[in-house]
Amino acid sequence: MHIHAYEKIWLAFAIVLILLLLGSVTYGAIGPGVAMVADSEPQIDANALDEDDRFAEPRVEQVGENEYEAYVVAFQFGFEPSPIVVPENSTVTFQITSRDVIHGFEVVGTNANTMVVPGEVSEITVEVGEPREYGILCNEYCGAGHHAMEGKLHVVPEEEFESGGESE
Ligand code: CUA
Repeated sequence: MHIHAYEKIWLAFAIVLILLLLGSVTYGAIGPGVAMVADSEPQIDANALDEDDRFAEPRVEQVGENEYEAYVVAFQFGFEPSPIVVPENSTVTFQITSRDVIHGFEVVGTNANTMVVPGEVSEITVEVGEPREYGILCNEYCGAGHHAMEGKLHVVPEEEFESGGESE
């Protein structure tokens, strides 16, 4: 059987596309750093956040030189703490959970964007630079006040952070 050269090329191209598709689906399911909800994080009781070390008092904590951990609670309709205040030029790992329904947590202008699911802790790391303000948005529909649900991330100068000052 004779197969025309063009037909062979297109055939090969189609096979490559199929392999790329299978590859991307496989990567999306088991690739490095890809985890499904509840794969690794311990569950948390959304009704008992008051008894949790991290979320009883939502706050920012220093965990290393220039490294901070921000414990954030999302709720209908806001985020706590607000504003979240961190020092300039630092690495901030947000741990976020919800007290009620599914919310979103997007730091506008960065690629930090995650779902926040009650009973789960979402973790996301952001490198911040110069002092500035970022808005924080919820982008999962969560009820009547969804459109008004917002928070603030204030990146402040080192001195201001150490004195515990606000950057209003
Ligand atoms: Cu919270 Cu939408």
